[in-house]
Amino acid sequence: MSQSQIASARPVILTGDRTTGPLHLGHYAGSLASRLALQHSHRQYLLLADAQALTDNADDPTRIRRNVLEVAFDYLAVGIDPALTTICVQSQLPALAELTLLYMNFVTVSRLERNPTIKAEIAQRGFERDVPAGFLCYPVAQAADITAFKATVVPVGEDQVPLIEQTNEIVRRINRQIGREVLPEAAARLSAVARLPGVDGRAKMSKSTGNSIPLSASADEIRAAVGRMYTDPGHLRAADPGRVEGNVVFTYLDAFAPDREDVEMLKAHYRRGGLGDMTVKRRLTDILVAFLDPIRERRARYAADPGEVMRVLKAGTAAARTVTQATLDEVRAGLGLVLEAEPEPA
Ligand code: TRP
Repeated sequence: MSQSQIASARPVILTGDRTTGPLHLGHYAGSLASRLALQHSHRQYLLLADAQALTDNADDPTRIRRNVLEVAFDYLAVGIDPALTTICVQSQLPALAELTLLYMNFVTVSRLERNPTIKAEIAQRGFERDVPAGFLCYPVAQAADITAFKATVVPVGEDQVPLIEQTNEIVRRINRQIGREVLPEAAARLSAVARLPGVDGRAKMSKSTGNSIPLSASADEIRAAVGRMYTDPGHLRAADPGRVEGNVVFTYLDAFAPDREDVEMLKAHYRRGGLGDMTVKRRLTDILVAFLDPIRERRARYAADPGEVMRVLKAGTAAARTVTQATLDEVRAGLGLVLEAEPEPA
């Protein structure tokens, strides 16, 4: 097999992130770690989803623009390798918008309104009756993202599974309409680690509540965040037995401590009593500082040379433009949207 045949024999991955803010430890545990491994075994595309970010941030486009580079710095700093992974920018891929427009006819408004992810997100954002049309339709755009690359593997969190189901419904409708398998169905690949809680113990991390640790955090910022971490409210004195379940410090140790046995010993000691929160927090701080130090340094080097990173994004986006345009051409032709005289009926 030639190099390019080997490359094309690999299953295709498409996944991405809305560019609404820099990435944090939750992103690392939930998705970046697996992308680092998958880039060696798959043909991986990462989409900086700036157009999707606009669906609930239309009043703040400068935030979205700024964060395209911030997220790119994060990708490169953790070790996403542009020689292995194609990083591309959603808004610069017109085929995605055109596929969205075509797919819109193969899904109903009521189906979109029933999507559990969208329902929950509409409630979270307080959109109620004023849902932006772009927001309601973003699952269609996401189907365009996935299918434009003919991705068969989509690494996502649990909350995104209904979006993959929605994608596959569109795939089946389109293939049925065209009469052959133009588009492949995609499978969600769930992260092995459960979602990392915020430092305050809340399920969802968000920049606005300051309950996350960004990948760019300094040692002081890490120490402060770990200091605020939710532990066991019943563990008042070091001598008391403490609870490990739901204790955020131990959840983070489980996710980031290099030595599993060491964590199990700490847990046993904490449960027995005699191990203070301060001591465990100091241990976690050391581990996170050691983990994030090289990432922060690499990130600072990329941030000092945004022109170089922009070149990476331009090259990745140019490659993605070719791939996505080819799929659009196929779908359009399949649906008979071509400037050719119809063949005479035989
Ligand atoms: N919805 C994803 C997020 O919220 C971003 C995204 C856009 C995506 N297009 C995608 C994820 C396609 C997987 C596949 O971050």
